[in-house]
This record gives sequence, structure tokens and C-alpha cells, in this order.
Amino acid sequence: RTLRIGLIPGDGIGREVIPAGRRILEALPASLGLKFSFIDLDAGFETFKKTGVALPDKTVDTLKKECDGALFGAVSSPTTPTKGYSSPIVALRKRLDLYANVRPVKSVAPTPAFPDPIDLVIVRENTEDLYVKEEKTYDTPNGKVAEAIKRISEHASSRIATMAGEIALRRHRVRNATDGVSGKQATVTITHKSNVLSQTDGLFRQTARTALEQARFRDAGLVIDEQIVDSMVYKLFRQPADYDVIVAPNLYGDILSDGAAALVGSLGLVPSANVGDGFAIGEPCHGSAPDIQGQGIANPIATLRSVALMLEFLEQEEAAAKIYQAVDENLSEGKYLTPDMGGKAKTEEVMEDVLKRM
Ligand code: NAI
Ligand code: MG
Repeated sequence: RTLRIGLIPGDGIGREVIPAGRRILEALPASLGLKFSFIDLDAGFETFKKTGVALPDKTVDTLKKECDGALFGAVSSPTTPTKGYSSPIVALRKRLDLYANVRPVKSVAPTPAFPDPIDLVIVRENTEDLYVKEEKTYDTPNGKVAEAIKRISEHASSRIATMAGEIALRRHRVRNATDGVSGKQATVTITHKSNVLSQTDGLFRQTARTALEQARFRDAGLVIDEQIVDSMVYKLFRQPADYDVIVAPNLYGDILSDGAAALVGSLGLVPSANVGDGFAIGEPCHGSAPDIQGQGIANPIATLRSVALMLEFLEQEEAAAKIYQAVDENLSEGKYLTPDMGGKAKTEEVMEDVLKRM
């Protein structure tokens, strides 16, 4: 089978890590029976400066018509308000209806603070909640007042919870097939604040619960848990090993995802995927890192893991597992680490080590 992958390096170190992502796909063992074709696509601030648009229609059309999945590097945002510029990744999520942002966080090795392995995933709803951007400001006798709409729908809450359930079961299968954190039960924790926001978060909580109570989840032994978001933050930072899959509305998910990334040392390790029905874009969590751009020292691991995550959503679990394993071995040996991890290796040396392990 040939998978067609769109490559959108974007700006800064996006142009150094996306080629690494392509190389790892090309290095997958032939025994998997997978082939790849690649299409280079433009987006980002450099593209905006050249053409006046940050996300060319051609990029979106090609992704829709000619690609099975894609990899997105990072884009730089202008430092001063720039007329006509808007974030291409935000626009892409909208135009391809990528309604979930999936962020796995996995520890490299036990530390005194976290002796138990951290291996969790945050599944963030990505189309509604406070981020519908319906705001207004008006004058009152006591000064200005600003308001924003928080919109929660049954439809969006149900599909995000269903995706979280599917992710939990898949991780459980993969865990059982490797020597990872076996014995852990597949669990989805629903995050909300329905004690205060009984209608909006109440609807999210109830709808997510109903979705996760479907027979196919129950029969597979999925555990449903829930947690109020503030106490979730507390527990996530004290006992991260207790969590498996966390599902959250947009705003809480945004905050929890960045917070959880801090548990594992470097942004250069943390992958993500933007996922809809039938399409996934892998994207490292980090930005364009202008401070290290062009030095050949960007950590490629967040991108390699994003490649594997994209493959999982394209139902290529075995190929994904090969990449995760090679990366984990590289990290646990610790001989070839980039400077963000306290090492001295270049991007190229990390890649050679990971490719050798594949
Ligand atoms: P950043 O993630 O680019 O960098 C933060 C720090 O982490 C820097 O010191 C950087 O050198 C380091 N770092 C990040 N990725 C690394 C990697 N792979 N290897 C080694 N070190 C790494 O965030 P920052 O500095 O806040 O933003 C820089 C630019 O990136 C801005 O224009 C921002 O708007 C954009 N950005 C884009 C994102 C995206 O495309 N999704 C996400 C975050 C920021
Ligand atoms: Mg964020």
C-alpha cells in the first residue's frame, strides 16, 4: 500500500525537523509492505511574506484531494500585528475539520520527582468552547465590560469522547503487545467544571459519559473516570503516572496539554496530532525556535513521534510501534541527545542513531 503524505515544514526549525520525519518513513522496514509518496506544501510566515497568504488554497486542496495524511513543522507568528496574517495551522484545522488535538506525553526515565513512568494522552476538543471567539465589549456606567461565549455541543462532545475511548483501547492493545506499562487498565478521565458551569460543562460531562458507555467500550473493559479541572491540575502534577487518556473541552485541554508537556523535560520530545474523521496531521508541539534555527541542533524526536502518531491514525500500528521503539531506545541509552536534553549531538547524529535502531 502507498500512503501519500503532505509535508508542510513551515518556518524556522520546521524546515530541519520535517525532513527528519520524511526520512524515518522512508526507513521503515520493507517487511511492513508500506510505501510512501511525498508532496511538499507551503504554509507559514515566510510564505505569507512572499505571497500575501499564510495558507495557500493549493496546500488545502492538495491535502484534501491527494493526501492520506500530513506532517506540519511549525510556523512563526509575526511579532507585531500584521494585516492579513492569520495562523495557518488554526485555519487548516478548520478547513479539514480536524476536531481533535491529541497530545501524548511520555517520560524518558524515572526521576526522583516522578519515579513511576508517565505515559498519558490528552485529547482536546478543538472546534468550540470559549475558542469560538464570539466576544463583545460594551460600555456601562462603571466602565467597559467584555463577554465571551462558551459553546458546548452534544455533537462535538460525543465525537471527541468517542475518539478518546478508541485511543484508550488502542493504547491498551499496544501496551499489551510490548513490555510497556502492562497491567494498566484502559481508562478515560473526563475533565470538566460542571460543579460551577452546570449547563456547558455539565453537557460535556454527561455527553462524554454516554459516549463512553457504548457497549463496544464497556465490553472491552474501558474504565470511565472523571475529574474537576482544578483538582486535575493538582493531581496531574503530583501523580502523572495515574493517568491514561484525558479528554477535555478546548480551553482546559489547551492548558492541560502544555502543562503536561512540562512534565517530561523538553518541548523537543512532545508530539501531537490534529485528527478528524479519516485524516490526521502530525505536528511537533514546539514552535519554530528562532533561537536555534540553522544550527543543526533541533531535537527531531517530537517530530518522529508525531510521525508515529499520524501512522496510528492511519491504522498502521505496527509501523508506529517501530518508530516509538527506536526513539525510546535512543533516549534510554542517552548517548546521542541534542543540547535541549543536556547532550551535545546534532540533529543528524540523533537521526543516524534512531535510523540504525530501526
Ligand atoms: P518554541 O517552541 O519555538 O521555542 C521555545 C524554546 O524551546 C526555545 O528555547 C527553543 O530553542 C526550544 N525548542 C523548541 N523546540 C525545540 C527542539 N525541537 N529542539 C530543541 N529545542 C527546542 O516557542 P517560542 O520561542 O515561544 O516561539 C517561537 C516561534 O514559534 C514564535 O513565532 C511562535 O509564534 C511560534 N510557535 C509556533 C507553534 C506552532 O507552529 N504550532 C507553537 C508555538 C510557537
Ligand atoms: Mg497551546
